[in-house]
Parts: sequence; structure tokens; C-alpha cells
Amino acid sequence: MRRAIFPGSFDPLTNGHLDIIRRSAPLFDEMIVSVLNNPEKNPMFTVDERCEMVREVLPSVGTGGCSMLVEAFSGLTAHFAREREATAIVRGIRAVSDYEYELRMALMNRRLEPTIETVFLMAGEEYSYVSSTLMKQVFELGGRVNGLIPELVEKKMGEKNGDDQSGSPRTDKYSGRSRR
Ligand SMILES: Nc1ncnc2c1ncn2[C@@H]1O[C@H](COP(=O)(O)OP(=O)(O)OP(=O)(O)O)[C@@H](O)[C@H]1O
Ligand SMILES: [Mg+2]
Repeated sequence: MRRAIFPGSFDPLTNGHLDIIRRSAPLFDEMIVSVLNNPEKNPMFTVDERCEMVREVLPSVGTGGCSMLVEAFSGLTAHFAREREATAIVRGIRAVSDYEYELRMALMNRRLEPTIETVFLMAGEEYSYVSSTLMKQVFELGGRVNGLIPELVEKKMGEKNGDDQSGSPRTDKYSGRSRR
């Protein structure tokens, strides 16, 4: 049984995450999309909301026969991977900046759990600039992020912002005034 975890904050899920899932899942028998419980980071969505969104969107992604699970976790990724008897940790790399961070994490995780390999996939070209943080920033300032995040996620972000879904600018949480 080849089991992998794909850990992240998924706050929120983007099409970049889904691209990594679609391309990496066929390499494994089972994959656990592992949603980090990080309330101290003041996430836009609770960990339960994030898990729910991933669960709702996943069936639309072809995973090549790989069984998909979604689970929240806290603490060290390497420990969670060991608890679940995973043999691999899947991560995506977008740019050099990701590489530096990911290298540190992969080396530390290998030190903690030498038998678990981190498997990296390069970002798809069309999503190589997509991050959850950028999606939230653009959305909150009234920009369009359609095509970069699943429609369901866009809808949930609108609900969080008390938005009318018309694409009109949202309150600027950074300056506290409305931008037009
Ligand atoms: N567009 C993307 N293409 C490829 N990999 C991605 C993409 N977005 C995220 N990833 C990868 O998915 C994993 C989980 O990432 P994470 O949940 O931190 O998303 P993120 O977009 O980096 O969010 P944040 O902006 O909050 O850090 C990481 O390995 C990250 O590099
Ligand atoms: Mg990140």
C-alpha cells in the first residue's frame, strides 16, 4: 500500500493545489489531503471549513484510482505522516522562494522520519503564481480570482466577506475603507 500525505493550510484550496493532487495521486494507492490546524495564524476559514471544502471539490478531480481522504492535523507533519503510516509527503514547488523553504522542511522531516520521502512536483505553468495568500488578498480588494480557485471556494469566500457576488469591491481590511 503506497500511502502519501499532501499537507498544507489550504486556506483556501486553490486550483494550484488541485493540480498537484491530480498529478501526484496516480503515483499512490491512497492520499490523505492533510489540513493543518493553525488557529494562531488567524486563517480565513476554520480547519473544519477547509476540510469540508476540499471534500466537496475532490470528487471533481481525476485521481487515477488513488483513494482520497481529507483529514485535519496539528503538530509536526512528519509525526502525522508516521502515525498514518505514509511513505511519502507530497509538496509543490512554484518558485525559488518555495525551494528554499521546502528544502529546509524536507531535510528536517527526513531527520525526524528517515523512511518517509518528500516528493516534489513542479507547479503547472498556469498556476505557478497562485497561492492562497495572493488569492485572499486579490479577492478582498475586489479583484477577480475566477479560474484560479474552485467555484465553490469563490462562493464561500464571498459569504465570508458578506459579499453580494457581483464582483464589486469589498471592504479593504488593510486600510479599513472601501476601495473603488
Ligand atoms: N499553485 C501551486 N502550484 C503548485 N504547488 C502549490 C501551489 N500552491 C500551493 N502549492 C503547494 O501546496 C502545498 C500546500 O501549500 P499551502 O497550503 O501553504 O498553500 P499556499 O498557496 O502556499 O498558501 P499560503 O499562501 O497560505 O502559504 C505546498 O507544498 C505548496 O508549495
Ligand atoms: Mg504556503
